[in-house]
Amino acid sequence: MATIAVFNQKGGVGKTTTALNLAAALAILERNPLAIDLDPQGHLTHALGLEAGSGIGAFFRNESSLSGLIQARPIGLRAIGASQDLSKIDALSGKDKHAATRLRDGLSAEFGPDGAPVIIDCCPMLGVLSLNAIMSAEKVLIPVSADFLSMQGVQRVVSLLSVLEARFGRRYDYRIVMTRFDTRRKLAYSTHEALKQKFEGKVCGARIMENVALAESPAHGKDVFSHAPNSQGAKDYYALTRELIEQGFI
Ligand SMILES: Nc1ncnc2c1ncn2[C@@H]1O[C@H](COP(=O)(O)OP(=O)(O)OP(=O)(O)O)[C@@H](O)[C@H]1O
Ligand SMILES: [Mg+2]
Repeated sequence: MATIAVFNQKGGVGKTTTALNLAAALAILERNPLAIDLDPQGHLTHALGLEAGSGIGAFFRNESSLSGLIQARPIGLRAIGASQDLSKIDALSGKDKHAATRLRDGLSAEFGPDGAPVIIDCCPMLGVLSLNAIMSAEKVLIPVSADFLSMQGVQRVVSLLSVLEARFGRRYDYRIVMTRFDTRRKLAYSTHEALKQKFEGKVCGARIMENVALAESPAHGKDVFSHAPNSQGAKDYYALTRELIEQGFI
């Protein structure tokens, strides 16, 4: 099972858009992905048009297995939603030693090591929820938009992964993907170049352009491939997914 956490502590950089459309592209490629919303904002849940319910919060409260929460989407995507109640998990976890590994243990117990890819959409904070995502994953995809704080945001994630590697004797692989790329802005190109220099071999060649179809599709409860299959956004996320597969990241 390749579990990929889509994470950046910086808000609004395209984590949910990336998780949604990466999972959708994997569904189109018949990889049978499971998308998990681990953000109390529930943006992925809305974007996928999932039925309201407590979603993954019920797993953390020991009220349901993960399998019992899966909803199937028409494109062949399986998903587990989230709602506001998930915000209480941080507070409820208290001093529980296993609080950060609950999801990892649940995924490995229910889906085993060789299952389909799992894509986890994280919230823009480092707390128990994001730690659960990162502890479940072997891979972290870091979306980054072109602005002057982007480098700092990526560095914080990469430093966190190093700390976890040292602490738990494990290895992470990560990739950085540029989102909301605006070809009219010099800053977009200079940020991309600076990232490539600093994080050599870790920056995806595929860049996600600023594209209206990507912004509009969640309002229709759809991924970009269902909403606007010929859009630039659909092309970019398909190219990103192919690149990650070809590199063995997925
Ligand atoms: N490539 C893009 N082109 C146009 N709009 C985009 C693109 N990527 C994301 N957006 C829009 O930007 C906003 C933020 O994107 P998104 O919700 O994916 O970010 P996020 O990192 O998940 O945010 P949060 O930190 O709040 O979870 C959304 O309104 C989304 O539709
Ligand atoms: Mg989000």
